[in-house]
Amino acid sequence: MRQREPTNLETPMDRIDSFLTPTELFYIRSHFTAPTVELSSYRLHVDGAVKSPFALTYDALRDMPSQSRVATLECAGNSRVFLVPQVDGAQWELGAVGNAEWTGVPLAALLERAGLEDDACEIVLEGADRGTPKEPPVPPGTITYARSIPRDKATRQEVLIAYQMNGRDLPRDHGYPVRAVVPGHYGMASVKWLTRIRAVREPFRGYWQTSDYGYWDDLDGVPIRRPLGEMQVKSEIMRPSVYETLAPNTQYTIAGAAWSGETEVTEIAVSTDAGQSWAQAEFIDPVRRHSWRRWKFDWLTPERPGHYTLLSRAKDASGSVQSGQHDPRYGSYVINHPLPIEVFVDDGSTVSA
Ligand code: MTE
Repeated sequence: MRQREPTNLETPMDRIDSFLTPTELFYIRSHFTAPTVELSSYRLHVDGAVKSPFALTYDALRDMPSQSRVATLECAGNSRVFLVPQVDGAQWELGAVGNAEWTGVPLAALLERAGLEDDACEIVLEGADRGTPKEPPVPPGTITYARSIPRDKATRQEVLIAYQMNGRDLPRDHGYPVRAVVPGHYGMASVKWLTRIRAVREPFRGYWQTSDYGYWDDLDGVPIRRPLGEMQVKSEIMRPSVYETLAPNTQYTIAGAAWSGETEVTEIAVSTDAGQSWAQAEFIDPVRRHSWRRWKFDWLTPERPGHYTLLSRAKDASGSVQSGQHDPRYGSYVINHPLPIEVFVDDGSTVSA
């Protein structure tokens, strides 16, 4: 548990050994109390810079042709606890990430029906949850959770207006009855409790992509603030867990997962000596766009008892490799450097009663 109210829960990664993360173990990241949305009065509004704005009931949405897609969601603040010195914010360890199958209607189909105006540049997705955010500058009054995605991403088939997760209706904490799923982007783009889809003619500068969930880009040497978007290549060790004790001179299978944003992970390497040497690990899952790939590495643990630091490092098809250090331009987000998992090798003989 990372926060009791609103509910913020982390996936216990050492218990995950399936390709799809079971819904009841999938992390929950919510900024405000989960709203109760009544199906009978629910409407999904599609409006803004469109030729024919409309509103859909839940049943009408479910009657539209649907698709199921597997996508990995990672919160941009995942692994924050690994930042040194410590930073503010929920201290996520390894488990603000999960891989699920989502079922719903492509956002593209709704936008096509509405008829996007030529000058619409972004699509704003707005949720029914409301409150006062924490990070300054804080806007006056309460606000909803709203994020935009660029038009070219919004019109691709993969972006879903989803009502099911792993074959069942969305649980309330995951956005019941309807949420967006934006594969390849950090989780903050996948707006839950979705009630409005609005096309806009100028870049949206709402709270959740300026004050929060932004980073410092560089424009000809001048730092400028931009919204976070595509996920960066990352891998995690799921087993062993931090400070686990392993038997010496024994085969132990190190297990983990790796993912990237709009491209696939192609290589995975593991170090058992704090990064001095690296060896190739083996993928368990085939390439599947927007989904993580689990991997494993058989390690013959050292004979010598001691303290060992394990790391994993992934490379993706665009040639990006996890860099050695966290990039400070991202502040307390995008923590995708190889994360140290410290373990003990001990045969028990050094433990006294
Ligand atoms: N949508 C709404 N309406 N409110 C939120 O607080 N949190 C976002 C996103 N969608 C959020 C939201 C963030 S930061 C993440 S990482 C994902 O939802 C988490 O989705 P999950 O709780 O289903 O894992």
